[in-house]
Amino acid sequence: MAYLTMHDDGPVRIVRMAREDRLNALNLALVDELVAALEAADADVNVRAIVLTGGEKAFAAGADIGEMADATAVDMKLRDQFRAWDRIRGVHKPVIAAVKGFALGGGCELALACDLVIAGESAKFGQPEVKLGLMPGAGGTQWLARRLGKARALELLWLGDPITAREALSLGLINRVVPDEACVAHAVELGKRLAEMPPVALRCIKEAVYQAMDTAFADGLEAERNLFYLLFATEDAREGMRAFLERRKPEFQGR
Ligand code: CAA
Repeated sequence: MAYLTMHDDGPVRIVRMAREDRLNALNLALVDELVAALEAADADVNVRAIVLTGGEKAFAAGADIGEMADATAVDMKLRDQFRAWDRIRGVHKPVIAAVKGFALGGGCELALACDLVIAGESAKFGQPEVKLGLMPGAGGTQWLARRLGKARALELLWLGDPITAREALSLGLINRVVPDEACVAHAVELGKRLAEMPPVALRCIKEAVYQAMDTAFADGLEAERNLFYLLFATEDAREGMRAFLERRKPEFQGR
């Protein structure tokens, strides 16, 4: 792993992007490592939640411009560099972004692709691709249009100006703003709370919420209903309901 560091804090895997001399510019190799790390955490039975973070100055300052500057449209089509990002959406476990400093372009898209976002006060979110004569390529137009509506999305995407953590919070793009020094610890605590929840229920809830963004309302309701019924096949649902009735703390096993 040339561009990442990783360690576990109990059931939480902390993955840190560490290409600090380039503000974590997302070159192909870094994204490959990141996707592999997320998938490995997803497959590891000892991991219940994942925290993705970057450096103090930047979560990530976008796709690596140096890697793209001389590329032709054909090069980009053949490289298809954003295909790997689809696999991030395929991660079943909760992924929490802990963002300090710049989250621009692909860095903003990466934060938005995480399930929850905890931002330090210094965080700045934005899609400045327009200033390079480009547009977002890793989901920015879709995330922002769906989450902010047309007018706010177009303003951010057309002007390319970054917004502060507090503005992102007020727009509903992120979950919480905390002091920078508390950002990763806060995300880890959140991960630990999630780790106490029944994993199969968390997974089904995630699936249903993402489906809500993809499908017509009625189809989403149908999918949600079926996933709800499916959870009755888990021992954790049985245990959770029984523990409630018996006024005790449930013990979830992940099956
Ligand atoms: N790609 C490649 N290198 C980058 C980079 C990027 N996205 N962002 C920063 N760097 C490099 C800089 O070139 C610089 O390298 P050198 O020291 O060798 O000169 C180093 O990181 C430090 O950056 P700065 O000196 O520029 O730091 P700063 O504090 O003056 O500015 C910044 C910080 C405002 C974030 C500025 O670096 C910047 O504007 N970066 C580019 C942001 C951007 O346009 N991102 C979108 C990329 S396209 C994209 O992401 C497409 C997509 O949808 C996925």
